[in-house]
Amino acid sequence: MPEKAIEIKNLRKEFRSSLNPLNLVEFFFPRHKTTVAVDSFDLDIFKGETLGLLGPNGAGKTTLIKLLAGILYPTSGEIKIFQRPVDEQKINIGLMLGYGLIYYRMTGYDNLKYFARIYRVKDFDSRIMELAELFDFKDYLYDYVENYSLGTKSKLTLARALIHDPEILILDEPTLGLDINVSEKIRKYIKGLDKTILLTTHYEKEAQELCDRIALMSEGRLVKLEQKEKFDEVINSFTKLGEKHVSVK
Ligand SMILES: Nc1ncnc2c1ncn2[C@@H]1O[C@H](COP(=O)(O)OP(=O)(O)O)[C@@H](O)[C@H]1O
Ligand SMILES: [Mg+2]
Repeated sequence: MPEKAIEIKNLRKEFRSSLNPLNLVEFFFPRHKTTVAVDSFDLDIFKGETLGLLGPNGAGKTTLIKLLAGILYPTSGEIKIFQRPVDEQKINIGLMLGYGLIYYRMTGYDNLKYFARIYRVKDFDSRIMELAELFDFKDYLYDYVENYSLGTKSKLTLARALIHDPEILILDEPTLGLDINVSEKIRKYIKGLDKTILLTTHYEKEAQELCDRIALMSEGRLVKLEQKEKFDEVINSFTKLGEKHVSVK
């Protein structure tokens, strides 16, 4: 049995939003709305594998990722990263959360330097150059990020996630909104990495191209989990979910 990189047990995350804070008669008119974003979720991710998490909008993918990365705290359940609590393992995780987690009013270089110092990366200058070379954005390294194209921003956010050479890479919709050429490049970069990878996507092709296993999430729950050979089954279920959502509208 390969080593487990991430263990998720019976995980649940609820969000409570305030509907009417002035309403004192809770019994008749609820003051809060509870959204269950992640529900009874169990999953093991093994060292070295790439696992794709597929699911429609609102399925809970981003919430799950935020829980794994220690950005959110679970309502209940347990997460272990290399047998340790999330808090103790942040250094082992590289996170790409859309185009977030970078400073637009700084240069690409300064962004990477900033995070390199947070992670205490030795010899950060050569690490930055190595990543800029690898992901082909050397020419833009000293420009302000606010002037970057979406593609260059993606490359920078991927480099940011990898600056401290973490063992686990977590990517939330890494190619969302990118044109075909750039998303192909980003997929190529991801494919070339020798890491444990969890990525979310709602592009079936992306999951098919990159992943060893694929999980389907719907309404906070894990509804399917299959090896590469059975991707078609998962994609079928995913398509059915899509039809269900469309017919509801
Ligand atoms: N901070 C939040 N506060 C309240 N509800 C939230 C919050 N973040 C996400 N949700 C809700 O949780 C559910 C799952 O959202 P999300 O994890 O973003 O799904 P996905 O990434 O699969 O599209 C949605 O119903 C969403 O509206
Ligand atoms: Mg999301």
